[in-house]
Amino acid sequence: MKNKHLVSITDFTRDEYLRILELAADFEQNPRQDILNGYVIATLFFEPSTRTRLSFETAINGLRGRVIGFSDSGATSASKGETLHDTIKMVSNYADLIVMRHPMEGSARLASEVSSVPIVNAGDGANQHPSQTLLDMYSILKTQGTLEDLKIFMVGDLKYGRTVHSLLQAMSEFNTTFYFISPDELKLPSAYKLHLDKIGLNYYEGNDLTEFLSEADIVYMTRVQQERFTDPIEYERVKNAYILHKDMLEDTKESMKVLHPLPRVNEIHPDVDDSPHAYYFDQARNGVFVRMAILTSILGVK
Ligand code: CP
Repeated sequence: MKNKHLVSITDFTRDEYLRILELAADFEQNPRQDILNGYVIATLFFEPSTRTRLSFETAINGLRGRVIGFSDSGATSASKGETLHDTIKMVSNYADLIVMRHPMEGSARLASEVSSVPIVNAGDGANQHPSQTLLDMYSILKTQGTLEDLKIFMVGDLKYGRTVHSLLQAMSEFNTTFYFISPDELKLPSAYKLHLDKIGLNYYEGNDLTEFLSEADIVYMTRVQQERFTDPIEYERVKNAYILHKDMLEDTKESMKVLHPLPRVNEIHPDVDDSPHAYYFDQARNGVFVRMAILTSILGVK
């Protein structure tokens, strides 16, 4: 994995996913180490973030690396018209690795083509969010004891939800049965279904969250991505399509966990938070260890 870009989850192989998850478990046991001493990592966030930026920066600080970067591109020369191409060219002079979030689909691939240092995609529009996928996989492995043969429900905005797109690609390597639950307007793009058809994986697509819920191993809730809608009336129509309440979980498997990449808006009622099925805050915590594993693998120090 040394010097590899992580732009799409498919840039890593199944063995590489498993290696990252193993390393993350080691970091969870021992999260304070000196192994990034002397390294500088840039976090360039052209789009808002709480978890992704702060967990990358916590990971870097925990391993004694240095962080440069920005969380508001309005305070950079991008606001004077500097192109992404030139920004990345410049920052790759200053840092050993660049973590970047950008609203434009394909921006991370573009950055990887001009950067002299590895790029980690921290979300590019509605396209991909591969480091989130690896922490989702780590959370699934920790709670289910396996990645194989699970029934995973993906619920909400399957059209624009980049975390869904990355996760289904990665989990399709592990004989997952997917249940895609969304309003018709926010259905999974057909390219992802064609991929599942091609590799012969079963999936179910529908609108009713409760119908098969008792079969779920993982329920992966997602926010309706208001910022990707061009028509505000359309957003208003679908924004509360699914709201998970605690009483809906009564007949589910004891081991079933509710995940959410966060932030949530209305799609998980706070009464779920004290349910034994709620795992989304632990999931976000797992992000620190997984991002330690990603950074150290790509920098070749682990
Ligand atoms: N899960 C996630 O990407 O959260 P942030 O947008 O807060 O980084």
